[in-house]
Amino acid sequence: MRVTQHPILGDLEEEKKVTFYYNGEPMEGIEGEPIAAALMNAGIRVFRTTAKRHEPRGIFCAIGRCTDCMMVVDGIPNTRTCVTTVKEGMKVEKQEGLERIRTKEQ
Ligand code: FES
Repeated sequence: MRVTQHPILGDLEEEKKVTFYYNGEPMEGIEGEPIAAALMNAGIRVFRTTAKRHEPRGIFCAIGRCTDCMMVVDGIPNTRTCVTTVKEGMKVEKQEGLERIRTKEQ
């Protein structure tokens, strides 16, 4: 499953494959596609857990309106992965509750 037309990000023009990392594991994506789409294509459905009840959340609105797809991207928490494009070498991590910005020492 690939998203080739997105209401926020636009059309996916070319299919240049990139490697990004999900929880340290290398994965393949297409440059310019939403991170969420690349993860869904790889079979990943849970992107974060809620802060209080630790319930799983995944993609819901797909247009940046809810918070269900938030993950830690290159150390930055609360990144909406449905409207953030995948890039070569990007580090994507499942978010547990409310995360804080990670520093290199952590
Ligand atoms: S799925 Fe709603 S903001 Fe991404």
